[in-house]
Amino acid sequence: MLRTPIFAANWKLNHGPTDAKAFMQRFLHQTPRLDDRSMLFFPPALSMAAVMDALHERPDVLVGVQHVHSEASGAFTGENSASIARDAGARAVLIGHSERRHVFGESDEATGRKVRLALDTRLIPMLCVGETLSEREAGITESVVERQLTAGLALLTDAEVGQVVLAYEPVWAIGTGRTATPADASAIHGVLRAALRARGGVRAGQVPICYGGSVNRGNAAELLAAPDVDGLLVGGASLDADGWSAIVRTEVRR
Ligand code: 13P
Repeated sequence: MLRTPIFAANWKLNHGPTDAKAFMQRFLHQTPRLDDRSMLFFPPALSMAAVMDALHERPDVLVGVQHVHSEASGAFTGENSASIARDAGARAVLIGHSERRHVFGESDEATGRKVRLALDTRLIPMLCVGETLSEREAGITESVVERQLTAGLALLTDAEVGQVVLAYEPVWAIGTGRTATPADASAIHGVLRAALRARGGVRAGQVPICYGGSVNRGNAAELLAAPDVDGLLVGGASLDADGWSAIVRTEVRR
């Protein structure tokens, strides 16, 4: 299980191995072991080895992949495999990121199969949910995230739900500079928590819920202080080693 708060960097399609190595040297130089939180990096798959090399004496920092195919192996040219990712050192995987859903057409049903596969492969699934701007304006945010959550967890036993990490990433806040307010984030995290409670089996508080969407150095502390916000999943602001080090060292007031 991950210790909360969780600080997860999603580099998306940025930082090749050369940049990744330089980033990690600089980042680790400034960032001591922090035993009261978890740190994760989701680099591009081709840069994972460079990140892992840099981390050889820092088992406190975990690495994951941004995407896996829903089948473990076979004739799927170009895809990432969960079991190969695990063999290569990944400990976690993002599933259902909004860019996978909206750019690559990942379905709710596929997210459920991938969460199942992740647990079978001993990868921590970080299941992402979030509404688009038009869904928000139509007042259906809660039903959208509940639907995504139900589909993502569909193939798990009740007890297995306790091994999942959730991330609420409103699509309108991703890469736009428009962050959800701490109150907005808290409200939807509360909806997710209630849905977990209704599903039963695990203590709803056992499942960490991260927020993502235009997180930066200026808003990280207030987001983390909001009720039900157990961590941050960060894109743009995780690309700069100094800035990301400052964010992961945020003093957390709870
Ligand atoms: P930004 O932090 O760049 O808005 O991206 C958020 C995100 O999609 C992280 O997974």
